[in-house]
Amino acid sequence: MAGEVASLHSALEPAGAHAQHIGDLWNLTMWICGVMYLLVLGFATLALLRRSRERTSEGNERRMQRALTIWATMIVIGLFALTVSSYLTDRALVHAAPEPQVAIHITAHQWWWEIEYTSADSSRRLRTANELHLPVDTDIHIALDSADVIHSFWVPSLHGKIDLIPGRPTQIELRPLTVGRYRGTCAEFCGMQHAHMALDVTVESSQQFAVWWDRQLRAPPPPTDPQRQMGLSTFVNTECALCHAISGTDAFGMTGPDLSHIASRRYLAAGALTNTPENMRAWLADSQGIKPGNRMPTVPLAPEELDALVAYLGGLQ
Ligand code: CUA
Repeated sequence: MAGEVASLHSALEPAGAHAQHIGDLWNLTMWICGVMYLLVLGFATLALLRRSRERTSEGNERRMQRALTIWATMIVIGLFALTVSSYLTDRALVHAAPEPQVAIHITAHQWWWEIEYTSADSSRRLRTANELHLPVDTDIHIALDSADVIHSFWVPSLHGKIDLIPGRPTQIELRPLTVGRYRGTCAEFCGMQHAHMALDVTVESSQQFAVWWDRQLRAPPPPTDPQRQMGLSTFVNTECALCHAISGTDAFGMTGPDLSHIASRRYLAAGALTNTPENMRAWLADSQGIKPGNRMPTVPLAPEELDALVAYLGGLQ
């Protein structure tokens, strides 16, 4: 039942422009420090082997001084190279694209991600949760906020970490370079379910991204079969609708994730479960058993109401 976000999650395999800078700095640091480490070990071994054989003499003294000078020069050059490249990496990371083509607002909650695609055209604004779709080779601006405690936004394949601090809005730029699926995560301990605060990231072509956005904007068609109709009425007539919104219905709740297209997501509960009917049923029946401490209260439902709800939500593509 346990959900896995099995996509790429590695700072060592950069798939974004910023992660590439960080990866390059890591490689340079590893090479410089690795070579110096091996040299130190090599010379230390040599010194141990020669100690017993040679006595100190005038000539030895001079050679020693020359070797020390070379050694000190290598240390200075190595540290200088690391300092300069670290500075240049830092500059490259904070450099903001003059006109980002996509603007997103992310709010971290205990324990899920609220994601809003903003647009000057208010009919294009889109609210979703726990999934990030990004067009490849595009400058993306993300404004970040927290609704409760300190969280940290981290998609290692695309960029480094950035903290989300309540009352202190911040921002980050992304430029994905490789189409694929990646895993984002919360990288700051934020309470009981910190480990279950994953973000499913899809980098796709601009066309696919536009299709996704358009589809997400459309309200799901009203259910036609009796079971799904019962599911909808259960949803809007219980506590579900107080916290969650489903476009085109009377559910307007804003404190929980928007569920308008829940069936199109790969995971439930911020990566805690794969999105299958069985997992959905288990989650609705006992979310506290699956993700203890989460903010969703258990709504008492009859088995047929539960089935109807699962059928209804499962059709929200
Ligand atoms: Cu949110 Cu850790």
